[in-house]
Amino acid sequence: MKTIKRIGILTCGGDCPGLNSVIRAVTKCAIVEYGLEVFGIYDSFDGLLGIPKARRLKMDDVKGLLFRGGTVLGSTNKGDPFEYRRIVCGKLVVEDLSDEVVQNIEHLGLDGLVVIGGDGTMAIANKFVERKGIPIVGVPKTIDNDIPETDRTFGFDTAVAIATEAIDRLQTTASSHHRILVVETMGRNAGWIALEAGLAGGADIILIPEIPFRVEAIVEAIDERERYGRRSTIICAAEGARPVGGKQFVERIVKDSAEPVRLGGIARWLCNELEGKVRAECRAIVLGHIQRGGTPTASDRVLCTRLGVEAVNALVRGETGTMVVVRNNEIGTVPIAKIAGKQRLVDPESDIIRATRATAVSFGDGFETCQADGRKETFAGTPA
Ligand code: F6P
Repeated sequence: MKTIKRIGILTCGGDCPGLNSVIRAVTKCAIVEYGLEVFGIYDSFDGLLGIPKARRLKMDDVKGLLFRGGTVLGSTNKGDPFEYRRIVCGKLVVEDLSDEVVQNIEHLGLDGLVVIGGDGTMAIANKFVERKGIPIVGVPKTIDNDIPETDRTFGFDTAVAIATEAIDRLQTTASSHHRILVVETMGRNAGWIALEAGLAGGADIILIPEIPFRVEAIVEAIDERERYGRRSTIICAAEGARPVGGKQFVERIVKDSAEPVRLGGIARWLCNELEGKVRAECRAIVLGHIQRGGTPTASDRVLCTRLGVEAVNALVRGETGTMVVVRNNEIGTVPIAKIAGKQRLVDPESDIIRATRATAVSFGDGFETCQADGRKETFAGTPA
């Protein structure tokens, strides 16, 4: 096993609260615990293409990073060096630039890399481990909380806190004007942010990708609330939610991105669908990148520090191709290969869903059936 003297660190994919806290933890632990040198690489793997864009990080360079949002190293969610995409004269060109990255890692004298990113980044990292023999330990990040093998990803707690505060603030307009407000959250194909922020913010209807909805069931839930004198309704809709038998709402296609689909538009669409079917006025509120901005919560800062320290420990132990995780509040590592191509989605039968339903929240999946005596009854869930 090669003794590690110098490591690199890079942040990849969309920004996420806590990236700087991990950079700080990795740098401090590497210097204080092991006497290593740390190099920060700019703009994800792009910083290892052409002339390397990197600089040595010392203790002073990470001062104040624990609570600073974003990433001081910069990031991109476009650059897979094995399939590097560029638009040249309006056309998409794909090239394999991975050898350039390897040469730059050697040129900088890096004995290992800490790669902070989401599932797409972990897949790229694993290609460098398996095909090029680069020692890498990954730190999973995403506000979406959709990475398997870990109970939480850092950034999620902060995103939920931001979305919850937004819903709290919207409650006053909803109730003052007797309106229906549809709040659209991020989360890609996972409903974690909408579910937890919706629950914490007291949303009346929550729509998530894992439970397809029916507009009629949403109208029924709103009417039912009116019958009990509730004249306003807050709907918290995940950007990835879709109607039964329908498709997800796509806002844009980013051609030169490895994952080109950007979801969005459900809130506007649902408002249009509801108007005319319900008495109250509807408004759409898209929280967007606000959910990824600003300072991480205390809980995320703690998680980032624990994950960052373990990433350095793992590299020093000689691990490669692993990712740091938290399970049952214990920090550990798992092979990156274990998460390949998988997403951690909300289980529609889980206790959090049952608890949410038990507090009279609708997932827009209720349905009506006619009983033998002609009575109509509404049920939760989707018809078999
Ligand atoms: O994966 C994080 C995330 O914020 C998703 O929730 C969202 O769908 C996507 O990134 C947005 O990406 P972009 O910043 O490229 O618009």
